[in-house]
Amino acid sequence: MSRTITITRPDDWHLHVRDGAVLNDVLAHTAAQFGRAIIMPNLKPPVTTVDLAKAYEARIQKALKQLEISHFSPLMTLYLTDNTSADEVKKASENSIIGFKLYPAGATTNSDGGVTNIKKAYSALEAMQRFSVPLLIHGEVTEQAIDIFDREAVFIDRILDPIRKDFPELRIVFEHITTKQAAHYVRDANTNGKNTLAATITAHHLLMNRNSLFTGGIRPHHYCLPVLKREEHRIALVEMATSGNPRFFLGTDSAPHPKGEKESSCGCAGCYTAHNALGLYAEAFDRVGKLDRLEGFASHYGADYYNLPRHTETITLVNQPQAVPFEYPMGKSTLVPLRAGETIGWSIAS
Ligand code: NCD
Ligand code: ZN
Repeated sequence: MSRTITITRPDDWHLHVRDGAVLNDVLAHTAAQFGRAIIMPNLKPPVTTVDLAKAYEARIQKALKQLEISHFSPLMTLYLTDNTSADEVKKASENSIIGFKLYPAGATTNSDGGVTNIKKAYSALEAMQRFSVPLLIHGEVTEQAIDIFDREAVFIDRILDPIRKDFPELRIVFEHITTKQAAHYVRDANTNGKNTLAATITAHHLLMNRNSLFTGGIRPHHYCLPVLKREEHRIALVEMATSGNPRFFLGTDSAPHPKGEKESSCGCAGCYTAHNALGLYAEAFDRVGKLDRLEGFASHYGADYYNLPRHTETITLVNQPQAVPFEYPMGKSTLVPLRAGETIGWSIAS
């Protein structure tokens, strides 16, 4: 007999939906599971001002209307640059912008306009602290001399810890953490009893280690940033996600790319998991016998951190293997989802 689990409707605290025709394709997947999602601002050009974010939100709302989806709310972010002003931070705080995203320049997809030196963003960080606007961090240094598998751990020592010392009241989310060092840093940080530090964890980092990049050949659809790490790091992430510690919550980092841009001589970074993200998370929690911890991680702690109400409706997941298609439409192209041509052990009950 198949098992089921019913949980409060979850939210995705880190999501890429892109723009234009792609919106309709990917939003339908996310909205079938989640009530809200934090929308990443790394468009081309990036979403750097409140006005640009409002226009982007309107395009998302239009797509939702076309899809006849009424229960889903996008939460908008701004892309932090060397030139973000304190005035823009204040305006963001008055216009329901959920946070600013720090991309170190060159760290990942569409991050060329990111921060070149964290000191250049200090007046914006000071304003974010003052107006209580969270800073969402892509935590990797970009120096070519630093091994790509070490870039997150080095970021903690060189950038994150100094920011926390200089801005002790700044609210920070360490996004899509991938290492034991990040997991333990967030777990052990002294925040003086305040809600100032949290982390999101993706489903793919809970389910795969870096061997998955090379199983039987090179696997471009398993390449994302921060890149998958060793098994010991995956285990540490699973421990944190399933620990019931409210500092850790769900953020899929689902990142659609056209198939041809992934399957290329220089394939871009990003895993697409929105088609059944919750099923993937349920699989990860079930593997370690901690399904009872899924609801806090997926549906409670993120809302609490962002001072938003928890949803009142529920969703039910069932552990019947769900076949994943080889491709989904993506605007004029297609995208290859995680587990394409295979199955996911859990899915939303219809
Ligand atoms: C993201 C994307 O494609 O926008 N890619 C990824 O590998 N995660 C960017 C990001 O979040 O780093
Ligand atoms: Zn991302």
